[in-house]
Amino acid sequence: MCGIFAYLNYRVPRTRKEIFETLVKGLQRLEYRGYDSAGIAVDGPRKTATDINDNTICLIKKKGKVKALDEELYKKDSLDLDEELSTHFGLAHTRWATHGEPSAVNSHPHRSDKDNEFVVIHNGIITNYKELKAYLITKGYEFESETDTEVIPKLTKYVYDNRENDITFSTLVERVIQQLEGAFALVFKSRHYPGEAVSTSAFCVLRPRQSRGWIQVPPAPPGPLASGMLALGRRLLSRVQEKNSHNRPDCTNNIDSVGDGRAVEYYFASDASAIIEHTNKVLYLEDNDIAAVTGGKLSIHRINRQAGEDPVRAIQTLQMELQQIMKGNFDAFMQKEIFEQPESVVNTMRGRICFETNTVLLGGLKDHLKEIKRCRRLIVIGCGTSFHAAVATRQILEELTELSVMVELASDFLDRNTPVFRDDVCFFISQSGETADTLMALRYCKSQGALTVGITNTVGSSICRETDCGVHINAGPEIGVASTKAYTSQFVALAMFGLMMSEDRLSLQQRRLEIINSLRDLPELIKKVLAQDKKIKSIAEELYQQKSLLVMGRGFHYATCLEGALKIKEITYMHSEGILAGELKHGPLALIDKDMPVIMIIMRDACYTKCQNALQQVTARSGRPIIICCQDDTDMCKNAYQTIELPHTVDCLQGILSVIPLQLMSFHLAVLRGYDVDFPRNLAKSVTVE
Ligand code: G6P
Repeated sequence: MCGIFAYLNYRVPRTRKEIFETLVKGLQRLEYRGYDSAGIAVDGPRKTATDINDNTICLIKKKGKVKALDEELYKKDSLDLDEELSTHFGLAHTRWATHGEPSAVNSHPHRSDKDNEFVVIHNGIITNYKELKAYLITKGYEFESETDTEVIPKLTKYVYDNRENDITFSTLVERVIQQLEGAFALVFKSRHYPGEAVSTSAFCVLRPRQSRGWIQVPPAPPGPLASGMLALGRRLLSRVQEKNSHNRPDCTNNIDSVGDGRAVEYYFASDASAIIEHTNKVLYLEDNDIAAVTGGKLSIHRINRQAGEDPVRAIQTLQMELQQIMKGNFDAFMQKEIFEQPESVVNTMRGRICFETNTVLLGGLKDHLKEIKRCRRLIVIGCGTSFHAAVATRQILEELTELSVMVELASDFLDRNTPVFRDDVCFFISQSGETADTLMALRYCKSQGALTVGITNTVGSSICRETDCGVHINAGPEIGVASTKAYTSQFVALAMFGLMMSEDRLSLQQRRLEIINSLRDLPELIKKVLAQDKKIKSIAEELYQQKSLLVMGRGFHYATCLEGALKIKEITYMHSEGILAGELKHGPLALIDKDMPVIMIIMRDACYTKCQNALQQVTARSGRPIIICCQDDTDMCKNAYQTIELPHTVDCLQGILSVIPLQLMSFHLAVLRGYDVDFPRNLAKSVTVE
């Protein structure tokens, strides 16, 4: 939900201005995670020029986007921008408010006291903060914010002030986090430990086991959409950069410490996108890891390490290109991601579908296929767009797997304590792999003994690690808050799963062939849909001042209605509802008149006649529908106020094409209404709190 970025330069002189620039750039890359307010902590001027222990920490925090913070930084007359700091540790944070409204005082870094002895940035939630706060108040601590986070620096000071002997910064932090409950990735800075950094990533409710069976497809050839990404949600990355070749720190592949005390820089971030411009060498912190930098040396140890547990972490090479996280020639990330779909669906299929032999092999699932085929039912669980991908593919999964398929919103599934059994197979769909409700549902299903399967876009995410097996959708980093290319790739991944399950079913061979051929042609068809962008924009120009927009369809397109309406809500702030056309006369028809804008999806499939009935009901009430239909459907053209004509594909994949006009429509509506497409109000890309 929040974005964490920190930068440590050890014996690498940097001016304060350069440090500001690095911190702000890091935050800008993470802004999609939250953008209510932002803040940084840097060393302030020394009280006396000679005494190095006489240091101060300066906090600068601002409500609003990172841009507002950036402007604020240069207003501080007390900070000499040209001062060179040979060794320095700076923290930066962009917030998505959970506890307390967006404001400077509620934004991070939070501090222990007025002298800023300890400052902390946090992503996650402290569930026992009320108890800790009450305790600290009895000890005389005064709180200034409404956040859960503020207990952390205050507790740190309390533990520090009550220490019996000298303790290291990492031991101090370890003692503090043993008192915390909840989910947290943290970075600490202190006046008492100048030039030192401690960061931790922990989910102390449960400790994940090693996931089995995840296999990544080989990376695509280099290019703007090279596949393979190692982005993180809640956890942190630390990064090692060699300053000079003769000063290389110890960069063996597996490390529990790095650095030989000479010049070195480290970056900590909640997501690979914030550091990719500095390096592609990263180290992922596991839950319960504490990483500390002291004297330029990075060391990692585990809290409550268990016997036989491997404390060594491998330095990994990111296969992400900087241009993947840049907007290029597009005005917004969302727009870029919509237009990437011809390539992103290819990356989802790459190395998995063989069009010569008409076979599908999902490497991450192959060892579990027998078990899956024997199961009682499939339960497909997700939130938001990921849930819609489950709705979109339910019918084809039922048909190809011949199993009962339940689709569930993660939060509702948990609220109901849904019965789950050992012979169930539970799928968890998540772009980020970090969504709290989906993760909790996963843990619940695991505790019931079900086999768990992840479908995610984020390699190394919590859902990847905690599921028994899974599929990486390989859509490439998705930065726009409104999910687009992840949806179509999730759709393709689930369809591929159905194909893999039905390989030996004679009666389904013709159907499988039709679907595989359609998957092969999909990228070209997506391009044809995207080519209608201008027309869709002109329709948006007629609609953008409306208050409401209904989206109707049924069968394979019900999910498109839900997803289209979600896109419109998310970024245009118009009321929008996805309506199952079969339910029209049970209520929604009352909304129809000549002024109510309606989009109807009517494709030539098994529901065509039923949809025509719905259309007649709408036109009979003077409704003026905009119809998304098949190319050259003259009947539709006669009855519609406007049409958007789509190329034809097999019925069960047509939803991939029918959602794209709605993605484009929501984008244009939001631009015309003057809203920031990539940063819709009140939302965040990665929802790591319940
Ligand atoms: C948030 C995002 C949505 C996303 C949903 C689920 O609400 O704004 O775009 O669909 O979370 O996210 P996930 O990462 O689990 O797919």
